[in-house]
Amino acid sequence: MSQIQIRRCEEADWPAVWPLLRATFEAGDTYAFSPDSTEAEIHAAWMEAPRATYVVRDGEGPVLGTYFIKANQPGLGSHVCNCGYVVAPEAQGQGLASAMCEHSQREALAMGFLAMQFNLVVSTNERAVRLWQRLGFEVVATLPRAFRHLRLGLVDAFVMFKTLG
Ligand SMILES: CC(C)(COP(=O)(O)OP(=O)(O)OC[C@H]1O[C@@H](n2cnc3c(N)ncnc32)[C@H](O)[C@@H]1OP(=O)(O)O)[C@@H](O)C(=O)NCCC(=O)NCCS
Repeated sequence: MSQIQIRRCEEADWPAVWPLLRATFEAGDTYAFSPDSTEAEIHAAWMEAPRATYVVRDGEGPVLGTYFIKANQPGLGSHVCNCGYVVAPEAQGQGLASAMCEHSQREALAMGFLAMQFNLVVSTNERAVRLWQRLGFEVVATLPRAFRHLRLGLVDAFVMFKTLG
């Protein structure tokens, strides 16, 4: 994977990004997006609402990962950003999420954000929780039974936070 680059996601990437997001959200175990979300709904959430969206591609090869960055709140809370990350199943465990998260922190700082917050990290998503902790995020709150896991039912979710810079 020598040509891997993280770059801004273009509309031309969307046909390759959407199946990855659809499969991730259909599983109903990591994101609150409804498992039966339409392509238009997810396009709005992933491509239109964020301040910026990125893809990881190996040269001209398939999309290996994607993330977005946006303000977590309007106005007086808009100095804290929020990101969402997805890595293709076949590309997991190779450091791509780590690379995307580090990239997002640099981008966030360049955009003027002072901190990053994850609002709903599913407690059973142990790989993600461990990864974010390793990258300096702290669990600042536990939301009891706040996530309706498609297989496990109601499970806790974490708010995770990191001051940037
Ligand atoms: C959670 C998710 C983003 C992790 O992506 P990933 O690319 O597999 O993550 P990484 O490879 O950076 O790290 C995962 C593990 O691989 C390890 N790893 C393996 N090779 C590595 C390398 N070359 N460099 C860095 N880490 C490596 C990491 O140490 C980490 O180990 P750990 O599980 O013991 O903590 C991915 O599983 C995913 O997209 N899941 C579905 C959506 C999701 O849950 N998103 C996050 C919501 S909060």
